[in-house]
Amino acid sequence: MLRPLFLFSLFITPQLIRFVISHQERGAWSCESNTETRFQAVYKPGIITVDGQGQDWKDIDGFQVSLLPALDPHQDDAYQGGKMTVKVLHDGHDVFFLLQVDGEYVYTKGDNYKCPSVALMFQVGENATYHDMGGCHESPGTCNNKTCRGHEVDIMHFSIGNAIPGRLYGGNPLDNRDGNGGDRYGHLVDLYAWSPHCRYLDGHSPSGNDSSGQNNWKGAWWHDSFTVHSASAIPGFIEGDSPYSSTGQKGTYYFEFSRPLRTMDRFQQDVQFTISQSSKVAVAFWYPIDGKPWRGSEHYSVSCDWVLLDIPSGSSVITRASSSSSWEAASAFSLLLSLVSFCLSVFVGYWVSKNKSVPFMPMNNL
Ligand SMILES: *[C@@H]1O[C@H](CO)[C@@H](O)[C@H](O)[C@H]1NC(C)=O
Ligand SMILES: *[C@@H]1O[C@H](CO)[C@@H](O)[C@H](O)[C@H]1NC(C)=O
Ligand SMILES: *[C@@H]1O[C@H](CO)[C@@H](O)[C@H](O)[C@H]1NC(C)=O
Repeated sequence: MLRPLFLFSLFITPQLIRFVISHQERGAWSCESNTETRFQAVYKPGIITVDGQGQDWKDIDGFQVSLLPALDPHQDDAYQGGKMTVKVLHDGHDVFFLLQVDGEYVYTKGDNYKCPSVALMFQVGENATYHDMGGCHESPGTCNNKTCRGHEVDIMHFSIGNAIPGRLYGGNPLDNRDGNGGDRYGHLVDLYAWSPHCRYLDGHSPSGNDSSGQNNWKGAWWHDSFTVHSASAIPGFIEGDSPYSSTGQKGTYYFEFSRPLRTMDRFQQDVQFTISQSSKVAVAFWYPIDGKPWRGSEHYSVSCDWVLLDIPSGSSVITRASSSSSWEAASAFSLLLSLVSFCLSVFVGYWVSKNKSVPFMPMNNL
C-alpha cells in the first residue's frame, strides 16, 4: 500500500483545551514527549464528501494516537475505547480531517456535555504554545491583541448535542452575516484564544466585535451503529430520529471536517495553511464516561505538545501502481500522437516547398 501506518506511542499529555475552572495552578510544566510527531495530509482531490461517514477515507492511511487525560496523563487512565485514528488530506483548496474513535453509543439530545465532542487547535502566532492554549500570561481583564500578540491559537470545537448525524454544521449564512465564528444550529464553532481564559469566537474580542469574523469550518459526525435508511426512504436522519441508535451500541464515532486552506481573516484568528509547508495542530476528545456529563477540563488529548501537520504539494504525491500504469499508457499514447503530427507537419512543409504551384490568394483579394 502507500505509506506504512505511522504509529505514535504514548504521549504524556497535560492539557489541551483547558478551561477557566481548571486553570488555577502555576506549577512547572513539562512535556515528556520528544518524539518527532507528524501528521501528513495527502493530496487527493475529489474523494471526500463531508457527511460524517468514513468509507470514502478507506484508502487513506491514518495516524493512530493515544488518548490520555489531558490534565492527569497516566497510561492507566487512557480512554477505554482505544486509540484515535486521525486522517488528513487536501485537494489544493480545502483541507479535510477525519477523527475516528471507537466508543459505545451515547447521545443526549440538547445536552452537549452528555455527548462526545472533539476539538482541533492550531498555532497561529509564532510564540503560541500548545500548553495553556497559546500561553499568554495576561489576566482575563488585560489580555487583548496587543498584550498577547504572538500567542494566538485557532480552535475548532464541535459539540454534537444539537447536531443531526450526517448533516453539515459549521459556517452558515446567518452567523457569518453577523460576522462571527458561531454556529447557532449545531455548535461547530470557530474560535481563537491567547490562553484558556482568553477565548473568543472569531470576530469577537475584548476590544470590541469586528464584523468581519467568519466560521470557515464545515463538519459532520456519525456512529457506525446507525442503520442508513434504504434508498427508497428519506436518505438521511432528521431531528425526529433522535437518538438515532440505542445507547450502549458498540461502534466507531466519526468526526469529519473541512476548511479552506486560506481564509479572509485579518486579525490572526485563523490558521493559514500553505501548500508545501507545515502547521502545528493538537486534537482533543471528550466522552461522557458512564453517562456522566463531562466538564471542559475533562478531556483526552493526542499529544502534550504541537503535532506537525505537513501539507504537501500535489506534485510530490507518489501515484499508486495500479493507476500509474494507466497513466503511463495514456502518456505513451499522447507521445505517439505528437510524433505522428510532427512527422505530418514536416511532410506537409516539404510537400508545399516542393510544389511551388500551390495556389496562394491574398486575403484582400477575397
Ligand atoms: C485589535 O483588535 C481591534 C478590534 O478588533 C482592531 O480594531 C485592531 O486593529 C486590532 N489590532 C491589531 C494590532 O491587530
Ligand atoms: C516572539 O518572541 C520573541 C522572543 O521573545 C520575540 O522576539 C518576538 O517578537 C515574538 N513574536 C511576536 C509575534 O510577538
Ligand atoms: C460582542 O458580541 C457579543 C455577542 O453578540 C456580545 O455579548 C458582546 O457584548 C459584544 N461586545 C461588544 C464590545 O460589543
